[in-house]
Amino acid sequence: TTSYRITLLPGDGIGPEIMAVARQLLDAVSSSHGFSLVYDVQPMGGVAIDATGEPLPNSTLEACKTADAVLLAAIGSPQYDSLPREQRPESGLLGLRSALGLFANLRPVKIIPALIDASTLKREVIEGVDLMVVRELTGGVYFGTPKGRVEAEGRVRAFNTMAYFDDEIDRIAKVAFELAVARSGRLCSVDKANVLDVSQLWRDQVTAMAADYPAVELSHMYVDNAAMQLVRNPRQFDVLLTSNLFGDILSDEAAMLSGSIGMLPSASLGSSGPGLFEPIHGSAPDIARQDKANPMAMVLSAAMMLRVGLQQDAAATALETAVDRVLAAGYRTGDLMSEGCTQLGCRAMGEQLLAALAG
Ligand code: IPM
Ligand code: MN
Repeated sequence: TTSYRITLLPGDGIGPEIMAVARQLLDAVSSSHGFSLVYDVQPMGGVAIDATGEPLPNSTLEACKTADAVLLAAIGSPQYDSLPREQRPESGLLGLRSALGLFANLRPVKIIPALIDASTLKREVIEGVDLMVVRELTGGVYFGTPKGRVEAEGRVRAFNTMAYFDDEIDRIAKVAFELAVARSGRLCSVDKANVLDVSQLWRDQVTAMAADYPAVELSHMYVDNAAMQLVRNPRQFDVLLTSNLFGDILSDEAAMLSGSIGMLPSASLGSSGPGLFEPIHGSAPDIARQDKANPMAMVLSAAMMLRVGLQQDAAATALETAVDRVLAAGYRTGDLMSEGCTQLGCRAMGEQLLAALAG
């Protein structure tokens, strides 16, 4: 039977709890679909800092590089906030994205009918929303140089650089155009070209590429307007293409269309090598170790790993169907709770998902 090597990075906060649920489901779905998964659990983030002093130990990075796919839960905790930036958990994640060349971050936002009333937005606004944020992940202001902090003449100045090369824009734009072709054919590129030079280059490159994709209807939107349009009329969007920082912000906003950030998975892909699959939410230290976390974004990230990373489409669909069924049956974690539903903790939600997968 086909066997895949998966590096698991449970990380911090609620990470280990939601990873445990994902692992149970992956075991069940792989055996029912005729393939096997071999896991290699590695420390990354705060747990790695505690164990080794660094957020991304070399041994973890090597285990990721040689895997067929990497599944990450969440990293970060306020206890590391006072460390120098390069020693914080977040730097481990940024280092991993960069070292694996994961320039394309795909964040699908699809409204699950059972959750339509869990959103803070009106039903008629979010009904039928099905969009994909394509976020550039290894460039832009997250990685630009120079950056730093200097003191001069009694004042402190800190700075980062928002920069892109033309070819960095082209390779992420290509991912977005291809996705648009496979979906509804609509692509909206989000920038701040009315103010930023880097955005003007972004817009020029994307516009030039449109000539290769006559079937795609390309539009451009300034990021401030896009933020507004996302809550005003999200159905206008299909594929949203944007840079690292804008994508970070817009994807959290888009997540709320679905009722909870606890529902959204993501895939980070490079031009070759293993992909990294992770929920878009964080490590939620406030509810860690209380069995309260919503494991569904984690499970849906495992599904994305199966589909996009391992080409195991049927198994991926089985996981997604299990999530739909459990929600349709009225089971909710606290973040999604509404009247008439049954509230479950993380572990109990995992049990329901397993049962739904089997039945
Ligand atoms: C995300 C997170 C990360 C980011 C942090 C943890 C570095 O917010 O994946 O969206 O900003 O990219
Ligand atoms: Mn984010």
